[in-house]
Amino acid sequence: MAFFTHHITRSLSSSVVRNAVIKNVTIIGGGQMGAGIAQVAAVSGHLVTIVDTSDSVLIKSIKGIEGSLKRVVKKKFADKPEAGQEFIQNVMKNVSTSTDAAAAVKKTDLVLEAIVENLKIKQDLFSGLDKVAPEHTIFASNTSSLPIGDIASSTNRLDRFGGLHFFNPVPMMKLVEVIGTSATGQETFNSLLSFSKALGKTPVSCKDTPGFIVNRLLVPYMMEAIRLHERGHGSKEDIDIAMKLGAGYPMGPFELLDYVGLDTAKFILDGWSAMDPGNPLFAQSEMLNKLVAEGKYGKKTGEGFYKYN
Ligand code: 3HC
Repeated sequence: MAFFTHHITRSLSSSVVRNAVIKNVTIIGGGQMGAGIAQVAAVSGHLVTIVDTSDSVLIKSIKGIEGSLKRVVKKKFADKPEAGQEFIQNVMKNVSTSTDAAAAVKKTDLVLEAIVENLKIKQDLFSGLDKVAPEHTIFASNTSSLPIGDIASSTNRLDRFGGLHFFNPVPMMKLVEVIGTSATGQETFNSLLSFSKALGKTPVSCKDTPGFIVNRLLVPYMMEAIRLHERGHGSKEDIDIAMKLGAGYPMGPFELLDYVGLDTAKFILDGWSAMDPGNPLFAQSEMLNKLVAEGKYGKKTGEGFYKYN
């Protein structure tokens, strides 16, 4: 599996190779992640187009960005509400929306995809855009679990293809994982690093391996919390309190699972256990499977491990 091989070491500070400046950004997928990425890109002065299949999703994306900006402004411009309002208006001037991906990418420097976690759908998307996007345009995926190399293989721009993995909630989380495949050019990699810094984020350099860095550690940790609870060794409330107060985590593992989405956690785990069936870190959990089968995905559906209003 290409996922486990062909690793190359990347430098975070290579100054020899040029890097192209990214100004125009197209985000494919107006869900929570796509909208969050669009927001931080617009705040940092990039011209952003969010693309999705329906106007109703795009209206929701814009509302989500405005809602999040209001929260930012409430703190940043606490004493100057008018300046805060002006800030929001200026940021929103940098954001446009479209349902036509082919048209949107015509003048873009970066296409960043944050759509459903399905390899074939991502490959079809990029394969189509590869034919219409300018030569210099970099393609990147925000996938949390699929191999970047497998997604890139549907295009003819392997050297201009990488991963940019953001964290939820994007406006608050300071990290971006920058992923290079064995074919990603150093110039592309440097551009992705510079872009992440231009967003005000801290990038880390990752290999194209399952879960990159954060999810590779976080998902087994959250799964072990569920198994600990399944064994009857702690209530979910106590486990959450323990990890918050004893390890300084902002959320306990069950709160975080509900926040990330139990469907997402299961999807990631299923993919890894299919690739490496004997690995106990990727073992199934009956409790998780049952909640997902019942449609209890966490905060977004109103119930997961906990209930939400
Ligand atoms: N937009 C803007 N501001 C926000 C925000 C958002 N979406 N979310 C929180 N804030 C700011 C606001 O100023 C908010 O104050 P307000 O409620 O008065 O507006 C302030 O943060 C505090 O927020 P909360 O009261 O909701 O709660 P917390 O203090 O606990 O902070 C948190 C929320 C930042 C989400 C924090 O709990 C946290 O860091 N949790 C861990 C999140 C995490 O681990 N994310 C990674 C998940 S893994 C992932 O994404 C990878 C994927 O591939 C699965």
